[in-house]
Amino acid sequence: MKFPHNLDYSKRLVIDTSKLALEPSSLPGVERIPLERENPESGLTTSIVRYEAGATFSEHIHPGGEEIFVLEGEFADEFGSYPAGTYIRNPPGSRHSPFSRIGCKLFVKLNQFQPGDTKRVVVNTTEKEWLLGQGDLKVMPLADFGTESTALVKWPEGAAFVPHTHFGGEEIFVLEGTFIDEKGEYPTGTWIRSPHLSNHDPFVKEGCTILVKTGHLLPLELSREIVHGPGNIADLGNVVEGF
Ligand SMILES: [Fe+2]
Ligand SMILES: [Fe+2]
Repeated sequence: MKFPHNLDYSKRLVIDTSKLALEPSSLPGVERIPLERENPESGLTTSIVRYEAGATFSEHIHPGGEEIFVLEGEFADEFGSYPAGTYIRNPPGSRHSPFSRIGCKLFVKLNQFQPGDTKRVVVNTTEKEWLLGQGDLKVMPLADFGTESTALVKWPEGAAFVPHTHFGGEEIFVLEGTFIDEKGEYPTGTWIRSPHLSNHDPFVKEGCTILVKTGHLLPLELSREIVHGPGNIADLGNVVEGF
């Protein structure tokens, strides 16, 4: 793999992670599928991570924050246990020593917090209420900061949304069912990254649930202007921070 890997945000990416093999990480019992990656073991990273039952990961710091959605099993650290369906944000500067008693599968984004986003978030989405969204859609907001929004969206069978444009891009991970737009069909486990100002007209046949992030894929010049302010891009250096 060449670095940086998949970090050109102007390119649309569709990866069906269910078709890819897990790769070893730096620690035994923890494997991963890299989706986007700045450096071999540091910097901006998005991955699927799998812990075998009983696996532990060494203590590490998150210089630019860590965002996790627990897909299967149960993830844990010294602060708590997080069953499947839990959404976690560990802000920049946080540290922990994670492990899993029964094993788990995670969707993980590292070092992608916007400057000033310092809030820790833990939401068990299996216990939180859904809000009514557009049409028959249901929405569960998970986090909002600056230009970035994260939510779960539940689509009932046969639902359609309106054609729309993504300011700051859109990233989707299909948690359940099959998500569809005019460009293709995306079964459970598919990761879709759509660029700033891309557009589509999504719908579903069977029901589906997706994790959606928007507004965080601004081109660097715009991001400097809107998000970071001049000369304020975090230099993450080459710190090893796991996954
Ligand atoms: Fe971590
Ligand atoms: Fe969209």
